[in-house]
Amino acid sequence: GSYMLDMLQYEDIESLTAANLACQACGLRRGCTQVVISRGRPQSRVMLVGEGPGANEDRLGQPFVGAAGQLLDKILTAAELPREDVYITNVIKCRPPGNRLPKSDETKSCLPWLERQIELISPRLLVCLGALAGQTLISPNLRITRDRGKWHKYRGIDIVATYHPAALLRDSALKRPVWEDFKVIRDYYRNLAGEA
Ligand code: URA
Repeated sequence: GSYMLDMLQYEDIESLTAANLACQACGLRRGCTQVVISRGRPQSRVMLVGEGPGANEDRLGQPFVGAAGQLLDKILTAAELPREDVYITNVIKCRPPGNRLPKSDETKSCLPWLERQIELISPRLLVCLGALAGQTLISPNLRITRDRGKWHKYRGIDIVATYHPAALLRDSALKRPVWEDFKVIRDYYRNLAGEA
């Protein structure tokens, strides 16, 4: 759309992030503490995309710093993904009130930021954490139970979805399939390791 064209004015991740921090495009900004954009190095070859900030993220200004984030960090360590090669963000940059799911118009208005973020980070691999990220970046028809662990392309970039770490906290039976997915991610990353 034409608003993606507006994003071309941001030619590096720093200027995009600065503009995103000032975004008031949807109603979510008035109900949250701050815009939460990313954690990790922009040079990373692996980019993880969650849903949106929760209460801890809203308070601290970084994605995945609460209970789900601690679990995610354990998964990344187990999968031998080094911290300096993982960039973490969310579909939605402002916490929805009471942690409700973002509405489709909110996701839509936030999407150009994520699209440009992906272009500027230019990762080798995108990992969608949960259904919202998968539906946003892989297919609107994605069903996480059916479609997790299937590899696709997003604008030429390898992409896969797995369960959200918060879902694992609610249902420990999901830990095994997530670990199966991350073993494939680990092996993919090992194959990148020799590259620049
Ligand atoms: N859940 C998410 O999807 N993102 C966060 O940043 C934290 C929890």
